[in-house]
This record gives sequence, structure tokens and C-alpha cells, in this order.
Amino acid sequence: MLINIEDLRQRARRRLPKAVFEYVESGAEDGYTLNANRRGFERYLFRARSLVDVSARDQSTTVLGQKLSTPLILGPTGLAGLLAPWGEVLAAKAAASRGSLFTLSTMSICTIEEVAAAAPPPLWFQLYVWKDRGITRSLVERARAAGYHALCLTVDVPEMGNRELDRRNGFSVPPRLTFTNVLDIFRHLGWVLRMSSSPRATFGNFIDTGSLAKKDAVSVAGFTNRQFDPSISWKDLEWLRSIWPGPVVLKGISCAEDARLAVEHGVEALIVSNHGGRQLDFLPAAIDVLPEVVDAVQGRAEVILDGGIRRGSDVVKAIALGARACMIGRPFLYGLAANGQAGVELTLDILSKEIDRTLALIGRPRLSELDRSALRMDLLPSTTEPRAPALRVLDGAA
Ligand SMILES: Cc1cc2nc3c(=O)[nH]c(=O)nc-3n(C[C@H](O)[C@H](O)[C@H](O)COP(=O)(O)O)c2cc1C
Repeated sequence: MLINIEDLRQRARRRLPKAVFEYVESGAEDGYTLNANRRGFERYLFRARSLVDVSARDQSTTVLGQKLSTPLILGPTGLAGLLAPWGEVLAAKAAASRGSLFTLSTMSICTIEEVAAAAPPPLWFQLYVWKDRGITRSLVERARAAGYHALCLTVDVPEMGNRELDRRNGFSVPPRLTFTNVLDIFRHLGWVLRMSSSPRATFGNFIDTGSLAKKDAVSVAGFTNRQFDPSISWKDLEWLRSIWPGPVVLKGISCAEDARLAVEHGVEALIVSNHGGRQLDFLPAAIDVLPEVVDAVQGRAEVILDGGIRRGSDVVKAIALGARACMIGRPFLYGLAANGQAGVELTLDILSKEIDRTLALIGRPRLSELDRSALRMDLLPSTTEPRAPALRVLDGAA
């Protein structure tokens, strides 16, 4: 039965080859930040009010002026099209069908144009700045021509994070049959068959740019470290502004100083994010950074929380702490691997039902009624403490 995000995760794990599932699942180095993103939510408990009329509930919101039925945004995830054929198109259609919105990664399998042609707006395009500024400009111009609403610039990848599982698995794009993965691939012939209807198995947006030939097998880290520009800085925002007339969203903000700089540079929205624990390890949980950023921004830009959302209650906590909406990565990828477009729709349905139920149970029927008084933070010690002593006791007893 698929009744929560963990069920979708287990289904995805069964349906995908090990190297592909671990590409989705893994974090950088010791996984501190990956785990902290989940555990961080445990620090925030609810202060529920009783005898409130919660018969009419509303979780709709607006993000950058666009109405969403639920405060959930599908985040940019490279290579989603390896989980299901036409994966990015399916996810974008699912987002539209549930009144959410989809962000297309620069590193997608389906192209900017393929997604825009198949899925109704609103769509955001996530940009990585290429060393070759001609390629960067052309990506931005293509997104503009295809009608994407906002440009989401990811700022936490000056160098690819150290994802050791990808290295151990020899994960490449396109995936290759190797001595170590041959048995596993044969156990997942369903995936091989499904993927035979995929338009391609490599980064679609670069096929025609000369930076990647269709047949090249590259590691994600190797390719991106060769192409991404580690010299980008705040001054490049002005250049981006000159070629992109719409709203700009910065993804990967993790402290108050950068939040203030983002506002000073006229950014319309920023995303508190540590890239789902895939970049710098030992950043704090995204939810723990959120209050600092919200306080620094003081309402001058919209703030979105990204990282570790697995329950609707996580979303309610983030909104109570000042986020306008939440972005999800792995949860919708699990849905996509589990059952294509319907699986992503199920991800959104599960989370929005959980949001709805939480709003009822805490006595705050509308998102607009959420503030920090809906939470209590005084009952638990810091993020990683609560379980460690208990585990030690169990180990000792064994
Ligand atoms: C498989 C995968 C690929 C990703 N690719 C990108 C990407 O291309 N660009 C980007 O800005 N973030 C990327 N991310 C990060 C997500 O946008 C998001 O920050 C992260 O997944 C949020 O954490 P969550 O998975 O716990 O929801 C990726 C994440 C995953 C899991």
C-alpha cells in the first residue's frame, strides 16, 4: 500500500537499479546534513489550539504572484528522466494537475522546450552558470522563449559535492553496463524496458551546444566540474538581470548575510537550501537556518524552505517559521520512479492531505494564520541529540 512518502521510497528502491536509486538517495560525505534535514523537524513541536472551527480549510498560497493550490514546489533535480521515460515532462504535468509548480533543472534529460511544450505553466527554470557564457546565455534565452516564469539560480555548487556512492557505483551518464553492475541491471529489466522509450539518456539541454556528444559517457561530477563556472559572484547577478526580464530566485542560501545581499541585489525570492545534503556536508538542517533567513529578509523577498520534507507537518512547521512555500526533491522522484506521472501526483496528494489534516488538528485552518506561536521549541535539546543516547542504551543492552 502506498500511503506515505516512505512507501513511495521503498517502491522506487525496488524498481530502480542500485546505482540510479543511490544517485537519488545519497548525500555528500558523512551524510550529516542529509540526516540533519530530517531530524531538524523534530526540534519543532506544535502548540495546538482546541475548539476552533476548522471546517473550512485552505492551504492555497501565492508564490511570485502565481496562485498555488498547495504550498509545494517540485524542485530542480538533474536526470529525473532516468527514473521514468520523459520523467521531467511527467513531473511537470503532475505539478500542473495538482496546482503546484515544477522547476526544470539545467541538468535534465528532457529539454527546456520539450517540457514547456507538454506541460502547462507555471514553470521555473533552474540555471547553473557555465564557464562558457555563450551557453549560459543561450539557456536563459531558451527558457525565456519557451515561457518559463522565473529563473532559479542555484548558488551552492561552485564545485560538485563529494558523493562517494556515485563514485563507488561508477555512476555515469548515460548509464553503462559494467562488470560490477551487470547482475543488478539484469534484476531490473523492467527499468531497462521502460527506459527504451526514453528520448535519450543524457543531459538533453546540451546535445546541440558542443559541450556534450550524445554518446559520451561522463560522470556527473566530472562533467559538471569541467563546465560549471566557480568564479560566479554577486556581480554576475547584474548580467543575468540584463538577459532575463522575469523574477530571479536564488537557491542555496544558508545564512543571514547572504540573504541580506540577495535582497540588496533585488532578488524576488530565495530558497533556504543545502541541496538536500548533497553539497557541503556539516551545514545545519535547512529548517534550522530558516528563522535566521526570514528575520534577515524582513518580508523584502519571498522565502522558500527546501530540504528534508517528508510529511505535511514538516511543511506546516516551515510556514509557521516564515516560509511562503516548500520545495521538495526526493519525495517526488520516489513517486516518479514508483509510478510515473500518477506517482508524482500521489506524492503531492499525500503531502497536501497531511498538510490539511495538520492544519485541522492544530486549530489553524488557513496557512495565513500560521506564525511562530503555532510551534514550541522549548521541549527538546539540539537537532542531533535526542536519539543518540537512546541508541547507546540499546547498543549497551544488546
Ligand atoms: C537526484 C537529485 C538531483 C538534483 N539535482 C539538482 C539540480 O540539478 N539543481 C539543483 O539546484 N538542485 C538539485 N537537487 C537538489 C534539489 O533541488 C533539492 O534541493 C533537494 O532535493 C531537497 O531535498 P529533499 O530531497 O530532501 O527534498 C537535486 C536533488 C536530487 C535528489
